[in-house]
Amino acid sequence: MMVISAAQRSFLPVLLVILLVPEDISCARFLVILPTVVKSHFIMLEPYIKALAGRGHEMVVVSHFPQKQPVSNYTDIVLDASLKGYRSGTGIAIEQVLSFKFPILNVFSLAKYGVHTCETLLNHPPVNELIKSDEKFDIVVNCIFHTECFLPFAYKFKAISIGVSTSVLMPWANYRMGNPDNPSYIPNLFTPSPGKMNFVERTVNAVTTVLYKAMYYFMSDCPAQKLVRQYFGQDTPDLADLARNTSLVLVNTHFSLNSPRPLVPGVVEIGGIHITRPKPLPKHLQDFLDGAHQGVIYFSLGSVLQAETLPDDKRDAFLQAFSQLPQKVLWKWEADTLPGQPKNVRTEKWCPQVDILRHPNVLAFISHGGLLGTLEATYNGVPVVGIPFFGDQRNNLANLAARGMGIILEYSNITKQSVLEALHTVLDQPSYRENARCTAHIFRDRPQSALDTAIFWTEYVIRHGGAPHLRTAGVELAWYQYVLLDVIAFILGTILIFVFAVRKLFRLLCSTRKVPKKKKQQ
Ligand SMILES: *[C@@H]1O[C@H](CO)[C@@H](O)[C@H](O)[C@H]1NC(C)=O
Ligand SMILES: *[C@@H]1O[C@H](CO)[C@@H](O)[C@H](O)[C@H]1NC(C)=O
Ligand SMILES: *[C@@H]1O[C@H](CO)[C@@H](O)[C@H](O)[C@H]1NC(C)=O
Repeated sequence: MMVISAAQRSFLPVLLVILLVPEDISCARFLVILPTVVKSHFIMLEPYIKALAGRGHEMVVVSHFPQKQPVSNYTDIVLDASLKGYRSGTGIAIEQVLSFKFPILNVFSLAKYGVHTCETLLNHPPVNELIKSDEKFDIVVNCIFHTECFLPFAYKFKAISIGVSTSVLMPWANYRMGNPDNPSYIPNLFTPSPGKMNFVERTVNAVTTVLYKAMYYFMSDCPAQKLVRQYFGQDTPDLADLARNTSLVLVNTHFSLNSPRPLVPGVVEIGGIHITRPKPLPKHLQDFLDGAHQGVIYFSLGSVLQAETLPDDKRDAFLQAFSQLPQKVLWKWEADTLPGQPKNVRTEKWCPQVDILRHPNVLAFISHGGLLGTLEATYNGVPVVGIPFFGDQRNNLANLAARGMGIILEYSNITKQSVLEALHTVLDQPSYRENARCTAHIFRDRPQSALDTAIFWTEYVIRHGGAPHLRTAGVELAWYQYVLLDVIAFILGTILIFVFAVRKLFRLLCSTRKVPKKKKQQ
């Protein structure tokens, strides 16, 4: 038995208290960098940032979306550099995005846009000042999306690095955590398959996954590497090495909606984090929804696509279809007038979407399949008619279709008949509503809310100094070691040498036997 002296005994309780009370983390200082002008990315992260501020952390937020009212413990560093394409707040025309039809073009433009963002923002005065500043940060939160360009902030401030994926994990996001992404059953962001793939699909998924990683590396990472050294100093480590020093990755997915996949402990799903407590609807909307005894169809193409840029024939197809339905329709439509608007259609320039979808009279959601809308429909159990345009939208809608709670309406196929057929399918076949309810039930059934999960793991990595114990050994391996190419090459080589040696031996044996025979014949 251990002998404890009196002095030690009196010290023991103190020691225990010191060991049990987590390190004081009430004053961690965060730098959150949101370089994209896509509003939905900010909407996803806002509750997380505000919740951390509410818990006494100091949040410094670099984004295009400053708070309208001051929030305590929350400082904005406003990006107002105009990035090409579109400016924050305004949308893009629908015909413009149809050129992004092919996934490979999505990756191409994403990588290009990443470099453009990197170039523009590193040279943007507020970001430049931050690079030169001697401020102190404990944690740097970066988005994992189209550029790794802002990772050196974590290095510069010697801070813990946290990555947030506002979408499904990008193919190029996995290596930083050594997270498995076997393409035999894990579809990449642009493969619209809910998991079970046939031979052709697996081939396409495997080839495109590798292709996208390579494209991203050469088109976004390499140019960013040069730019980063120019602004942060020549001694900045490789971006890939900085990426591998990430302590935690929070992903906007959930296995009830996205196909289940293995995640290393440092990768945590927080799908639905932006869905906060219900807020009361504006009175006119509440009255409209309450009064719709036949139900309501909610129609929104999100914050990026502008519905008013729909070509006239497609718009009329919707309106003619709606005019034949007993339900009311609420359409997020940004223009002042809607030509040929039927009596049962109401337009709103802005909609509190998640609270509308919560209303029991909402029977269907016509959506472009953006991730936030998809998560909100799932959360509220509303069947979806989805019109995918670009990016991950087809993938999101394929997930809803696989759950039996949504169908896809091709943009090119929009006619009065196809709209009616799609709506009748989700409205009249009870399975859609039942499946949507069931999926919602699974989606909500978690030990902790998505927000609490994100906060817990964030504070966890702070408490444990970056939590290096979460890192898998896979992070340290070179890619060819990770996929065992070196081992496969070794084994194949050994077999080859063995076969070669055996053949040589046989020949030798045969020839020594044959030689005398031949001699006899001669
Ligand atoms: C801001 O942080 C302090 C501690 O640093 C905390 O006491 C305070 O409650 C926080 N403010 C808000 C509004 O949450
Ligand atoms: C186009 O719409 C019609 C209904 O009007 C439907 O039967 C058909 O399957 C659709 N085609 C495609 C490719 O979605
Ligand atoms: C890696 O992360 C840790 C915190 O988790 C940090 O202290 C360290 O400086 C980082 N190293 C590099 C090279 O960025």
